[in-house]
This record gives sequence, structure tokens and C-alpha cells, in this order.
Amino acid sequence: MRTLIAAAVSSFVLVGFAPLASAQDVKANAEAGATKAAMCIGCHSIPGYQASFPQVHKVPMIAGQNAAYLQAALAAYKTGDRKHPTMKAIAVSLSDQDMADLAAYYQALPAAKPALEAKPSQQPSPEVAALIQKGNCIACHGENFSKPTDPSFPKIGGQHADYLFVALKGYQTQRNQVVGRANPVMNGMVANFTPEELKRMAQYIGSVDGELKVVPQSRFK
Ligand code: HEC
Ligand code: HEC
Repeated sequence: MRTLIAAAVSSFVLVGFAPLASAQDVKANAEAGATKAAMCIGCHSIPGYQASFPQVHKVPMIAGQNAAYLQAALAAYKTGDRKHPTMKAIAVSLSDQDMADLAAYYQALPAAKPALEAKPSQQPSPEVAALIQKGNCIACHGENFSKPTDPSFPKIGGQHADYLFVALKGYQTQRNQVVGRANPVMNGMVANFTPEELKRMAQYIGSVDGELKVVPQSRFK
């Protein structure tokens, strides 16, 4: 299993990050990101805000998320590796510099809980524990799902469960115009689970304490 993960991680680094190589010259500026976030707050800064197209679920919390992951996610919406009509429309308007600035800004917003225990705040049912063990999810996302083993991996603990489920199903979906996620690591991870099993894992992971949150902002500060 370890070799499998190592192989998956290295292929992720090669396949997933090679196109971003040019972005390495970009120096992130969180202050500039704060201004650029004006076009994000209508969805990402409203607690409990629901997206209704192409699927109904809560808009993901991005404050306190890892910058490297946020930047990769934005780039994936832009290239179409991640399908989502609204986020694509937004991402195509962003330069590498904009994405780096926005990612730095959102990462720096204060995390929900200052210090999480290393163990998740609640234990899964034996059934869900078996699913999580089968997928070895904690090897990358961390034992409490908020301490990813690489900064380019997302924190998922306490994220909205309905969004986590949509994201997991997305990794199982290819060749669809409006939904689906192409990612060499997670496409392999979800392959051995039924949608019902993904839903149970999403519900549990969304229920533990996490570091992500929604930071409401005024447009006129
Ligand atoms: C109209 C509402 C809307 C606006 C405006 C919007 N987003 Fe989003 N965003 C969403 C939704 C819905 C998703 C979930 C998409 C999916 O299912 O992949 C999302 C997903 C994301 C993700 C992926 C989160 C994750 O956990 O993988 C990032 C990063 C993100 N948005 C950043 C931004 C930034 C930065 C802006 C402003 C430049 C912005 N968004 C503006 C609705 C919006
Ligand atoms: C080998 C490392 C690895 C393993 C093991 C792994 N993941 Fe992931 N996970 C990732 C990476 C990398 C991403 C980001 C993919 C992308 O950019 O779309 C991710 C993304 C996700 C997302 C989307 C988060 C978001 O905000 O959109 C969810 C949900 C998720 N993983 C859940 C799981 C679950 C549940 C398991 C176990 C069944 C698991 N992962 C196993 C590396 C891993």
C-alpha cells in the first residue's frame, strides 16, 4: 500500500503540477488577494450559502485551507480538469498571479479552531472506519482530516458533508460537460467505492471538527 501511495503521489506531482511550473516565478501577495476576493465573497463568504447549479450543495469553505491546494484547485477549474460552470467562468478570468494571491489570502484567514487534537473529534462507526481504512484516506489527509501530509493536499475535516460527497462523486465522473474531476490521485482512490459508501464517508468526515470556515466580509470595508 505504501508503494502504491508513493507512486500515486509522485504521479500526482508529475501530472498534476507540471503545467503549473511557470507559476513558480509568481510571488503570492495576500494583501492583493484581499482586494481580488471581492468577486468571491458573494458565494464563499456567506455562511451556509447553497449552490443550485449544476448540483445543490453548500458552497465549500475555503478560509483556512492550504494555499497550494487552493491554487491547484483554481487552476484545475481553469483548464477544465475540474468541471463546474460557475467556477470555470471565474477561474478563466484569473491569472497565475491572481490565483496565488487569492490562495495566500484565504489560507491566512484565521482557522476555525486554534488547535485541533491529532485524533478526530469523534470516532466513525465501525462500518465507516473500515471504508476509511480501505481507502487509506488518513495517509494523505491526516488522522484528523485537517493535517494533510503535503501542503498541496486539502484539509477535509469539518467541510460541508454535502460538498464532500459531490466532490467524491466528481472524481468518479468523467466525460460529462458540467460535472466531474480529473485528478490522477483521487480518481484512483474513489474507484473501489459505491456512491453510498462515498456518502457515508463524506457524512462522517464532514461531522468532525475542522479548521475550515466561512469568514463573512463586507463588500465595503
Ligand atoms: C457564484 C458562486 C461562486 C463564486 C462567485 C465563487 N465561487 Fe468558488 N466555488 C463555488 C462552488 C459552488 C464551488 C464548488 C465547485 C465544485 O463542485 O467543484 C466552488 C469551489 C471553489 C474552490 C474549490 C474548493 C475546494 O475545496 O476544492 C475554490 C478554491 C474556489 N471556489 C475559490 C473561489 C475564488 C478564489 C473565488 C473568487 C475569485 C470564487 N471561488 C468565486 C461557488 C463560487
Ligand atoms: C495519495 C493521497 C490521497 C489519498 C490516499 C486520499 N486522498 Fe483525497 N485528495 C488527495 C489530493 C491530492 C486531493 C486534491 C485533488 C484535486 O486537486 O482535485 C484530494 C481531494 C479530496 C477531496 C476533495 C476535497 C475538496 O475540497 O474538494 C475529498 C473529499 C477527498 N480527497 C477525500 C478522500 C477520501 C474520503 C479518501 C479515502 C477514501 C481520500 N481522499 C484518500 C489525496 C489523497
